[in-house]
Amino acid sequence: MEKTLILVKPDGVVRRLIGETIKRIEQKNMKIVAMKMIRITEPLAKKHYKEHEGKPFFNDLIDYITLAPVVAMVAEGERAIEIMRKIAGKTNPDEASPGSIRGDYGYNTPRFMCNVIHASDSETSAKREINLFFKKEEILEYNTAVI
Ligand SMILES: Nc1ncnc2c1ncn2[C@@H]1O[C@H](COP(=O)(O)OP(=O)(O)O)[C@@H](O)[C@H]1O
Ligand SMILES: [Mg+2]
Repeated sequence: MEKTLILVKPDGVVRRLIGETIKRIEQKNMKIVAMKMIRITEPLAKKHYKEHEGKPFFNDLIDYITLAPVVAMVAEGERAIEIMRKIAGKTNPDEASPGSIRGDYGYNTPRFMCNVIHASDSETSAKREINLFFKKEEILEYNTAVI
């Protein structure tokens, strides 16, 4: 079992795509084990995207991810990291396949790549990012075979 960090990014929240995103996660049999709505602060944004520090789009990226609240989730499942990257689609909405969240709803503006969702890209990133957004006790354990 793997856990991965998912964010419905500000463009997804303001365009009422929270439900659509959650629907697609559940449809793929992923188990949501943590969830909250938060406004990402500038320090948290900089930590979350620290691998992109110094890139030309970094400052705009920090502005974009702090524009409005996000819905942060931990999704759990077999190969959750790879599966969630696939559901999300390619980073650039212009290249993301129709049928993926980014392919269906993403678009580019002169400043922002509005691609609706974040999904951790590796086991190492998933661990680091989950720890940035959630305390241990906020991640719940439950059995889906009880009902
Ligand atoms: N060339 C770019 N111009 C503007 N924003 C970008 C660019 N590349 C990436 N971004 C933004 O930064 C985020 C993080 O980039 P990256 O880690 O490469 O993609 P992903 O979100 O697919 O893991 C992207 O989701 C997107 O919002
Ligand atoms: Mg990334």
